[in-house]
Amino acid sequence: MAATIKGYTAAMRPWETLAEADAPDGQRVALRRRGHEFLIRVGGWDLMSSRDDTSARALATVGCGALRERAGLRVLIGGLGMGYSLAAACELLPDDATIEVAELVPALVEWNRGPLAELAGRPLDDARVRVYLGDVAKRIEQARDHFDAILLDVDNGPDPLAHDHNARLYGRAGLRAAHRALRSGGVHAVWSYSDAGDFARVLERNGFDASVHAVPNRGRDRGRSHAIWLGRRRSASRR
Ligand SMILES: C[S@@+](CC[C@H](N)C(=O)[O-])C[C@H]1O[C@@H](n2cnc3c(N)ncnc32)[C@H](O)[C@@H]1O
Repeated sequence: MAATIKGYTAAMRPWETLAEADAPDGQRVALRRRGHEFLIRVGGWDLMSSRDDTSARALATVGCGALRERAGLRVLIGGLGMGYSLAAACELLPDDATIEVAELVPALVEWNRGPLAELAGRPLDDARVRVYLGDVAKRIEQARDHFDAILLDVDNGPDPLAHDHNARLYGRAGLRAAHRALRSGGVHAVWSYSDAGDFARVLERNGFDASVHAVPNRGRDRGRSHAIWLGRRRSASRR
């Protein structure tokens, strides 16, 4: 009985807004807390909660797990969120790796150095980590034959939710840019709200060997699986 009353109390506790900021596309981003749970809201939508970090971490375990062994691995993560994918990548990658994290909203980086810092164990303090402030699509477009892995979790997956401009990351132009930014055999891993749709075919058509990994969800959408789409870059001659 006590557990029921305790659960009821936690659920009824009001959300407190800790901070707010505007994304470059004008969307309002809010950081909220209720007890031990943190929530990031974008444009009135719940983007992510700290209640379940399983699939955010899985993005890194699936993506980095598919890397071929070599010295000086270079990994790009977009975006930062609450830092779980970044923390998992830091745990998995060797000391000589470089891990770049691209984040569109500067306040998110600030919050990860402030109220959110302990959630994922302060991964921004890792000496291998570099922050790119801006659109991950721009960072991908700048790179040629550079990254061993791109780990993408900027929105809802191939069905974008919060920022409309992210749709281009999942279409032909975005995937061709990722293909150019990766080394041969490199890995393009994409977090997705579900494994529905034909994103594997889109990856295949744009120079990747594709697979999908379902990840159980223990948070708000309990019972539903999230997905990590994995593309292995084929060489330019095998496109
Ligand atoms: C769902 S959260 C990422 C969660 C993250 N995987 C984690 O472990 O906490 C999405 C993040 O991507 C950022 N973002 C959205 N669009 C972006 C873009 N085009 N480039 C870089 N970051 C972006 C958001 O501000 C947010 O911090």
